[in-house]
Amino acid sequence: MIESSDPPVVAIDGPGGSGKGSVSGRLARKLGFHLLDSGALYRLTALAARQAGVDLGNVAAVADLAAGLDARFEAGAENEPARVLLAGRDVDDAVRSESCGNDASVVAAYPEVRRALIGCQRAFRRPPGLVADGRDMGTLVFPDARVKIFLTATPEERARRRHKQLIAKGINGNLAALVREIETRDERDRNRAVAPLKPADDAVVVDTSGHDIDSVFKRVVDIVTSSGLLDPRR
Ligand code: DC
Repeated sequence: MIESSDPPVVAIDGPGGSGKGSVSGRLARKLGFHLLDSGALYRLTALAARQAGVDLGNVAAVADLAAGLDARFEAGAENEPARVLLAGRDVDDAVRSESCGNDASVVAAYPEVRRALIGCQRAFRRPPGLVADGRDMGTLVFPDARVKIFLTATPEERARRRHKQLIAKGINGNLAALVREIETRDERDRNRAVAPLKPADDAVVVDTSGHDIDSVFKRVVDIVTSSGLLDPRR
């Protein structure tokens, strides 16, 4: 792994529903590090396009929106993810919807969009350090990350988790449809020409199937501790 004098990065990659959002938020709090939810930037790009009436197939126009994205994250309540703001407006609910996730997966396949968002993602790397959550944090955005973790779980398990999250929000999701959507999105994310979803060669792969969030978090904390980023007594 390349050594870097820049603030340390913990890269947490994996498919949707693998638990990386919750784990990354908890880890950032424990380390006192900044947090980058890179998926939210792709979701915001897709939302900005929808709001502006831009066709998602219009690559140049979507990339322009990505380049000029006015994105902000506002700390949420204790144990809640940060809320997402677009041009100062709280769009968190719209951005977290399944349809916005699917739109995000479409625009994320465009190299022009990925290029437009890379500087914005790297700007989150500030002292004392960063926990970066995404698909290509360890492979492309922060190849010199101190720790690289790739979380996985079966599509069925990930669909069950999404289903639970939707129900908690009062949204009634169909489990079988969620499994299909997750498989379609995985397929697109894994097979795209640029930044396909895959673990970095030096990532630790953690299968979260059958494990609750506390046990996954404990495993992640052990990995981060053995990297020297966390005092074992904390
Ligand atoms: O993690 P998420 O569900 O919020 O991500 C939404 C979509 O954005 C996902 O289908 C793939 C894309 N994405 C990406 O291509 N690269 C990232 N670093 C993060 C997300």
